[in-house]
Amino acid sequence: MGGACYKPPVAEMDLLSWMESRVRARTLPRHVAIIMDGNGRWAETRGRSRVEGHREGSRSVRSVTREARKIGLEALTLYAFSSQNWGRPDEEVGALMQLLAEYLDSERAEIMDNRIRLHTIGETGRLPGFVRERLESVRAASAGNDGMVLTLALSYGGQEEIVQAAQAAARVGPVEADALEAHLWTAGLPPLDLLVRTSGERRISNFLLWQAAYAEMVFVETLWPDFRETDLLGAIADFQQRERRFGLTAAQVTSG
Ligand code: FPP
Repeated sequence: MGGACYKPPVAEMDLLSWMESRVRARTLPRHVAIIMDGNGRWAETRGRSRVEGHREGSRSVRSVTREARKIGLEALTLYAFSSQNWGRPDEEVGALMQLLAEYLDSERAEIMDNRIRLHTIGETGRLPGFVRERLESVRAASAGNDGMVLTLALSYGGQEEIVQAAQAAARVGPVEADALEAHLWTAGLPPLDLLVRTSGERRISNFLLWQAAYAEMVFVETLWPDFRETDLLGAIADFQQRERRFGLTAAQVTSG
């Protein structure tokens, strides 16, 4: 390897620990969610199949989850499969389901060792049996864990989530914001602080529509398979520069 892009491994380690100490020195977001976009483009630019892009993307899932846990996030929510993704070619949907199953098998020990609690949001009943069984098994095994909550959004749509929450709330009383919120699939998770989308797209794509009301948004050009530990830390550092006002004035927020 040569040329301007080469960075010695030691310098990479230094960069990672330097970024970790920098984000740890400031208030961390409690809950980070990520729209993992760009697997297809990553593969296409390398002349590889879209499925290979998803496979490399699942490696980013591992790296980012590990880093999120390491720095002490309370909750990480990943958009792994949308309600609309069912419309993709059968082969791609099948490969994504297979990757999910492989991920659950290979990560089970790490999830348990790191006291991560696995949670899912979405219409998981639509997933094939071999994925549902694995999800349920890891979910049940990790239910008592007190570390970070890792939420996989699977067969998830934000509009669909709000509709079912409104219907459930209406069955028990007047539909007010608190009542509806209590029926969202994310009930019990910390409020969403930071929403990241990779691959240069600047859309929310039916993800956490309700929960994103006051979330900070960070859009990065990096394609998801290239998004690793330092990219997560960079997004958090960006978040830490923001002034969150929640509808108040800057003077009110700073006076405290
Ligand atoms: C969007 O990229 C990504 C997806 C639809 C799937 C995300 C899945 C993974 C990261 C891997 C499996 C998940 C886990 C949890 C192991 P795209 O295909 O829309 O990319 P493009 O916009 O470049 O075509």
